[in-house]
Amino acid sequence: MKGKFITFEGIDGAGKSSHVDWLAEQLRARGLTVQVTREPGGTALGEKLRELLLNQTMHLETETLLMFAARREHLAQVVEPALNRGEWVVCDRFSDATYAYQGGGRGLERSKLQMLEHWVHEHLQPNLTLLFDLPLEVARERIAVASRTLDRFEQERADFHERVRHAYLERAHAQPERIRVIDANNTLDNIREQLEEIIVTICL
Ligand code: TMP
Repeated sequence: MKGKFITFEGIDGAGKSSHVDWLAEQLRARGLTVQVTREPGGTALGEKLRELLLNQTMHLETETLLMFAARREHLAQVVEPALNRGEWVVCDRFSDATYAYQGGGRGLERSKLQMLEHWVHEHLQPNLTLLFDLPLEVARERIAVASRTLDRFEQERADFHERVRHAYLERAHAQPERIRVIDANNTLDNIREQLEEIIVTICL
């Protein structure tokens, strides 16, 4: 039996990462074996690429190719083996992020993204994607209070993040079966309730 592949998405500051571990625990409580991972990253090589991607200025196509290179390694080493063992994989970001950030945010042609997606994971899509959505101002406030150095993406201007959000919402609109929008401008408890409702549907 194949496991299920669940991804989390959203603009920077949407608060999705704090829910990744919680969701994994809920699934484990239902007797499932769950791997938690992230992109870019998830492997030794992927984490090195992440460090570069988040901090080193580079050409847009280099950035996109490195995102997919990290993804190829991650799929081969972590995601596909786990799914083939029948485990569930909960991943903080996947290819929807490349469409939203490199496509929507930075303006890379869709055809190039489709070509890379086809190459790297023609036969694999997430079973479910949870898109954490909230107004840009709220996300920006959350980032502003973070007491750490902001990465290259977090440092982008508001209009970049607005385009990223728009691209995500467009994808959710086009693929409503797979991409479920979570209203992330809410309390922790309320967001957990929204997630719980969705888990019940997917676990049945
Ligand atoms: P994170 O902070 O949610 O872990 O994500 C790291 C950053 O990388 C985030 O700002 C979004 C960006 N990113 C892309 O631009 N393209 C991608 O394909 C992925 C996976 C992440």
